[in-house]
Amino acid sequence: MPKKDKKEKKNEKRYDHLKKMARITRIMKEMYERGQSKLCDVRNSDIHGRGVYAATDISNETQIIEYIGEYVDKDESEKRAWDQAAVAEKTGDAAVYIFTLDEKWDIDGDVPWNDARLINHSCEPNCEAWIEGDQIFIYSLRDIKEGEELTFDYGFDIECYVDHPCLCGRPSCVGYIVSREQWPELKEKLEAKDGSESALELQE
Ligand SMILES: C[S@@+](CC[C@H](N)C(=O)[O-])C[C@H]1O[C@@H](n2cnc3c(N)ncnc32)[C@H](O)[C@@H]1O
Ligand SMILES: [Zn+2]
Repeated sequence: MPKKDKKEKKNEKRYDHLKKMARITRIMKEMYERGQSKLCDVRNSDIHGRGVYAATDISNETQIIEYIGEYVDKDESEKRAWDQAAVAEKTGDAAVYIFTLDEKWDIDGDVPWNDARLINHSCEPNCEAWIEGDQIFIYSLRDIKEGEELTFDYGFDIECYVDHPCLCGRPSCVGYIVSREQWPELKEKLEAKDGSESALELQE
């Protein structure tokens, strides 16, 4: 092969590589921008670790931020949930970032540019997650004042409620991160537990 052709080929390869890198960078920038919002920012939370706070007054039913992440099918999602449970068993704490999208797909929001992944749970949430097509958005459930922490109902199942104590500190806090629909069942369970504990104390 003549020397010039070899050099040209090398240049072409380099040019293709740079084009590919530029495309990836553009996509990353777009993803990063989609995961941020002028309406909120990330700060240390009184509830747990880091949280997301209103950067301005927000009126009811405002689309605040997208919950962005990796689309995963149910098999992969289940595998990741088991991995998270293994971490929880070891450390006593594991953040759950998987959101149900539909019957086949979930979104794993565990990517650093997804600010919404840091929104904490509350028993009196001021936000709610809405699914729109293949996207998930966080909307306000009422007017929110600048500086308020944004929260939504994680909707966790009652099955393993003891693993998820709630520290939201709201007057109506039920003590555990459990979906509101299951509160009556949770209250029954807690009352039964209280009853048997007091009976044990009386015996002692
Ligand atoms: C998706 S992360 C939320 C961001 C988290 N604060 C952080 O700094 O990574 C979810 C985890 O935050 C914690 N968390 C969220 N809301 C909570 C609450 N109301 N009470 C106690 N822990 C909470 C739990 O450990 C939960 O698994
Ligand atoms: Zn609570």
